[in-house]
Amino acid sequence: MSSRRDFMGVALGGFTAVGGLAALYAMKRSWDPLPSVKAAGFTTVDVSAAEPNVLNVEKWRGKPIFVLKKTADMKADDRDIIVGSDRFHVSIGLCTHLGCIPAYVADEFKFKCACHGGEFDASGHEIFGPPPSPLEVPPFKVDGTKIVLGEAGPDYEKMLAAGLTV
Ligand code: FES
Repeated sequence: MSSRRDFMGVALGGFTAVGGLAALYAMKRSWDPLPSVKAAGFTTVDVSAAEPNVLNVEKWRGKPIFVLKKTADMKADDRDIIVGSDRFHVSIGLCTHLGCIPAYVADEFKFKCACHGGEFDASGHEIFGPPPSPLEVPPFKVDGTKIVLGEAGPDYEKMLAAGLTV
């Protein structure tokens, strides 16, 4: 009897460990930054392997940078960065209220800030709570399948001129 219970215990423990590992792997994947290269004020992010509606957080000049590939049915926005046939939301991941780092809630297509309940849509526009302005778009340049953060390319200049970066 006790050996049967031992077996059940080991089997259940095994299932739990496998489930736990799967959950950890899923979490780690969503935390993994995309392949990127950092050099003297620039971060080059290769977005060719980005998955739709999965937030990647990169680092540029010590700041978190949100890189979110939009799905075909997510609302297009003038602040989207076009890479090939894909649309990306890219912003400095600091809440424009008091600077907390919002979390992305994928099934609601929203960034939510735990500090004072501020919310932004998947294009970084403030939609609820105290944030006074959208998430800021950092200077960027599109180079093939890469986004170079820190370099102001023509698409960024256009956004800047139209007042869309903040
Ligand atoms: S810092 Fe984000 S809502 Fe206050």
